[in-house]
Amino acid sequence: TGGKMIQVTSQELRKHRKLEDCWTCIKGRIYNLSHYLNYHPGGVSEIMRAAGIDGTSLFIEVHSWVNEIKMLEKCVVGHLIASPQFLV
Ligand code: HEM
Repeated sequence: TGGKMIQVTSQELRKHRKLEDCWTCIKGRIYNLSHYLNYHPGGVSEIMRAAGIDGTSLFIEVHSWVNEIKMLEKCVVGHLIASPQFLV
């Protein structure tokens, strides 16, 4: 809590798919994963499959029991918002 929450479109999300600038969306929340990547028990390359995209289905397929809301509390940057149709 405390930090400024921003509204993020899928166009913006897509720009953040590098190790040092890695965002994903899980269940509507946008996370910056860059500081978490090296701690991921499933490895960096696995979690990078969700880089820059909505990773919700990948996340749930592999570990629906993991509490990402608590784990990534410090990594939240904002919320995914709907994009205007002409940008999709
Ligand atoms: C394992 C967290 C995303 C693939 C784990 C575990 C945690 C975790 C805590 C250990 C689970 C356990 O042993 O019960 C997260 C978080 C993510 C994330 C916070 C937030 C984005 C992903 C994504 C993938 C993935 C997008 C890609 C499909 C895996 C795999 C394992 C794993 C394959 C199993 C590793 C093993 O048991 O050898 N993850 N994960 N994770 N994760 Fe993730």
